[in-house]
Amino acid sequence: MSNAITAEKLSFSYPSQNEGEPVRVFEGLDLNIEEGSFVAILGHNGCGKSTLAKHFNAVLLPEGGSVHVFGLDTVDEERLLDIRRTVGMVFQNPDNQMVANVVEEDVAFAPENLGVPTEEIRRRVDDALKTVGMYEYRTHAPHLLSGGQKQRIAIAGVIAMEPRCIVLDEPTAMLDPRGRQEVLDTIVRLNREKGITVVLITHHMTEALRADRVIVMNDGQILTDGTPKEVFTQVELLQGVGLSVPATTQLLYALRQAGYDLPLDALSTEECAQALHEFLKA
Ligand SMILES: Nc1ncnc2c1ncn2[C@@H]1O[C@H](COP(=O)(O)OP(=O)(O)O)[C@@H](O)[C@H]1O
Ligand SMILES: [Mg+2]
Repeated sequence: MSNAITAEKLSFSYPSQNEGEPVRVFEGLDLNIEEGSFVAILGHNGCGKSTLAKHFNAVLLPEGGSVHVFGLDTVDEERLLDIRRTVGMVFQNPDNQMVANVVEEDVAFAPENLGVPTEEIRRRVDDALKTVGMYEYRTHAPHLLSGGQKQRIAIAGVIAMEPRCIVLDEPTAMLDPRGRQEVLDTIVRLNREKGITVVLITHHMTEALRADRVIVMNDGQILTDGTPKEVFTQVELLQGVGLSVPATTQLLYALRQAGYDLPLDALSTEECAQALHEFLKA
């Protein structure tokens, strides 16, 4: 498998403000993200998740070390457009990402700016709107849609550029549970059906459970990295840095602490219910 994103010995600090010290975020961070994978990044506020995401499409450039996306070095100014086209970004607030008064015009905006021919734009916009399940809304006004629908339009706008990787920085943080579910299902589909590499930054453990790989960051470093089962069974490590674990793990952990012999890695609600059922039956 080849890598979609590679950070090698990445160092970065924000410049000092008001004559204060510069804010050091990364010092020699190494990270690879495999092409085609779905990776969730967790970590408490201020640990560097957004700063890392911004390095993935050259919004920020390394101070030391390097970041490559599909082999392109992000400091290569001549390839900046290719980099931005290859790695699309979705942010927290869907309202800040809307640029037009009609849904389909909004989705067409980025490919139009890239100089994609009109016929091709029509095809891409329709395809992107179908992918996010918003095709019937193509002539609607974006500001009248729900938060989850708006965020799906923002995702359609990114996939209309036909990126190979999409980085979403807390895309569900401002949504209600239903909107969160819609957006998460869309993200999973992009990865599973379209083969797009997905990097999802999230605070929601239930969202991270859907990923192939979970990376937990703390203070600009990788605290732990593995499958959801490998990561979430490290309850004490996660709680030690102020992170919660999924409700299923929490329950099983508490029961184990109380001396009951239950598996800690029954992560999904179904697996957890099954484990409890087997235990009570025995
Ligand atoms: N524009 C900025 N200028 C100065 N410091 C910043 C800036 N953006 C973020 N920081 C600081 O960098 C660190 C990492 O921030 P960030 O990447 O936003 O973390 P996260 O997304 O995990 O909450 C924090 O200490 C934050 O205060
Ligand atoms: Mg952030």
